[in-house]
Amino acid sequence: MIFCIYFDIKKGLGAYYFSLKLARLFIKSSQAWVTLATNDSYSLGALVLAHSLKRVGTTRRLVVMVTTGVTLVMQDQLRAVFDEVHLVDVLDSKDAVNLALLARPDLGITFTKLHCWRLTNYNKCVFLDADTLVLQPCDELFDREEFSAAPDPGWPDCFNSGVFVFRPNEDTYKSLLSLALSKGSFDGGDQGLLNTYFNDWATRDINRHLPFIYNMCSPSHYSYLPAFKQFGEGVKIAHFIGPNKPWSQYFDSETKQVRPSPTAGHLKYLFQFWWDLFCAHVHPHLSPDMAGLASAFSQMKLGEPSPAATVELQEHLRRSAWEQGSMDFMGADAFDNIWSKIMDTVNKGPNK
Ligand code: UDP
Ligand code: GLC
Ligand code: MN
Repeated sequence: MIFCIYFDIKKGLGAYYFSLKLARLFIKSSQAWVTLATNDSYSLGALVLAHSLKRVGTTRRLVVMVTTGVTLVMQDQLRAVFDEVHLVDVLDSKDAVNLALLARPDLGITFTKLHCWRLTNYNKCVFLDADTLVLQPCDELFDREEFSAAPDPGWPDCFNSGVFVFRPNEDTYKSLLSLALSKGSFDGGDQGLLNTYFNDWATRDINRHLPFIYNMCSPSHYSYLPAFKQFGEGVKIAHFIGPNKPWSQYFDSETKQVRPSPTAGHLKYLFQFWWDLFCAHVHPHLSPDMAGLASAFSQMKLGEPSPAATVELQEHLRRSAWEQGSMDFMGADAFDNIWSKIMDTVNKGPNK
């Protein structure tokens, strides 16, 4: 009799733990990391990001939103690494609100990010820019609520929209688009719009403030170096904001070492970590049929010098960032570099 009760309790407990496990599994499969790539170069970032998440053993699903700007062969590669490759329109011609957006080209391609609210197969998600890199496990972000994000280093009463926790919801998507139409975005991108929409983020609930270690933006290493030195080891997600992306750094394929400008300082180690993941997991699967840098990198043979075309393309990217007005003041475009270039030219003289 006692034996029977004992076994009944054991069975009951077993079933309880089993259903608990099932419930947890279900919750996890309804949660996802989401990123975006509208071309093959940003897809390189997305691929490295996915591998960085796998490296730390995430239990959540990996989703990448792509537009037709990503080549089919790159989409195949993304499919091999992400659980889901979700095709989205830069502008949906069937959507009256979106169509009206056509008249606002200045809003920029980052508005495509807003499609993440339409991923309603998932319950809760964390959006990560394709230029972020996960350094340590951070699945605990899924315990946070919409809308959680970390402060922007440029204006800390605003959040940076490179990392945020959200709940997919078609209504939120629609409201965001109508806000885009009525008020627009104060920075021309998604960050300005989202800060207007979630405008009580700074004051309402401190739990919605993600610690900076979940979105350590690259300029912090020079704008507040002592803090970077003190807290840098705890960083879980690094974000390479601005034009100075890891994939546009000079990379010596012979030694597999990245060679950023000397002013990159500690960022160099983060760039190198990005390139280590790239060499191990991404480079072997690149194809010349991909576009831009992805195609150029596919020609690169590790252990041999980079082909001239690759170096030229990286230089071109840095230069066009300058021409668009987004100079890398503390990096390759730093005053010292410009000054030494000027002196070089002056010293050469007109006929030399
Ligand atoms: N993005 C993209 N294609 C572009 C520009 C941006 O796919 O041409 C996506 C990508 O996920 C990127 C995000 O939008 O990480 C935001 O852009 P970016 O990271 O360059 O902005 P930053 O963080 O430097 O301000
Ligand atoms: C920001 C964010 C980025 C966003 C962009 C446009 O600096 O880092 O995620 O897409 O601005 O608003
Ligand atoms: Mn970014």
